[in-house]
Amino acid sequence: MQIISTVADMQALAHELRSQDLITGLVPTMGALHEGHLALVRLAAERADKVIVSIFVNPTQFAPNEDFTKYPRELEADVAKCEAAGADYVFAPPPDEIYPKGYSTYLTEERIAKPLEGVSRPTHFRGVTTVVAKLFNICRPDLAVFGQKDAQQVAVIQKMVTDLNFPVDVVVAPTLREPDGLAMSSRNRYLTNTQRTEALALSQALFKARDMVAAGERRSDRLIAEATHILSQHRRVRVIYVALVDRHTMEPMREVEPGRSLIAIAAWVDEVRLIDNIVL
Ligand code: PAJ
Repeated sequence: MQIISTVADMQALAHELRSQDLITGLVPTMGALHEGHLALVRLAAERADKVIVSIFVNPTQFAPNEDFTKYPRELEADVAKCEAAGADYVFAPPPDEIYPKGYSTYLTEERIAKPLEGVSRPTHFRGVTTVVAKLFNICRPDLAVFGQKDAQQVAVIQKMVTDLNFPVDVVVAPTLREPDGLAMSSRNRYLTNTQRTEALALSQALFKARDMVAAGERRSDRLIAEATHILSQHRRVRVIYVALVDRHTMEPMREVEPGRSLIAIAAWVDEVRLIDNIVL
């Protein structure tokens, strides 16, 4: 497996792969890889001839008060995991390769990025779309795999790809969970044992909503009320939002439309901000 750290080398490789007519799959990540990320790599390896995993803690998607500097960085371990999962290349550029001195161009999706995460993190998706567009231009993938865990990110990127005619197939992988239901996340490592137990409230609330829908409930106000009630029983959990939205537009829905609806939660567990969602 090859590690590439400059844009020029990555572009040369992308050119080479294209000229050989190989299908290239890209898995964009910020590293600190867990099984959820590796499932994306495995899915890419099934669909593509060559798989590139990008590992880049993207400064522009963190607000000044967020965890950019303390975000876990462990390139060596990540590279080994990528190789075992079937990746062919790791693209791990230093920050100034992606954002050289004087960098001043940003890309914004202006509708889907606004609600939910966009309310408390107004510049987050601008950073995500900017870096993903740059990664698409640098790596020139035929397909790119993203996780349903970040449902709004998926919707924003799908819209960016459509609106800007990127010749990239967006592949969405299901959310991988721990056996007790907690959605895997690089941020879970910030949780103490007590906080981790409290964090289970998020998946419990989502599973309850799913069960209610299976039993015939369609009204989003009732589903949201029940999910909120479950979260409120946990002392360390503070709800940021509980919303039932269209999975493509992130607009609120009054009634569940099976397959199209998504219930999404963001909550603080003490000082750790977690998100989770489930397609209903
Ligand atoms: P990161 O948080 O590292 O996540 C990389 C990819 O892994 C994303 O597509 C995310 O949705 C997916 N992922 C994370 N946890 C998952 C889980 N439990 N199950 C399935 N997939 C999961 O998302 C980002 O990085 C960044 O915003 C990025 C797209 C790389 C742009 O910087």
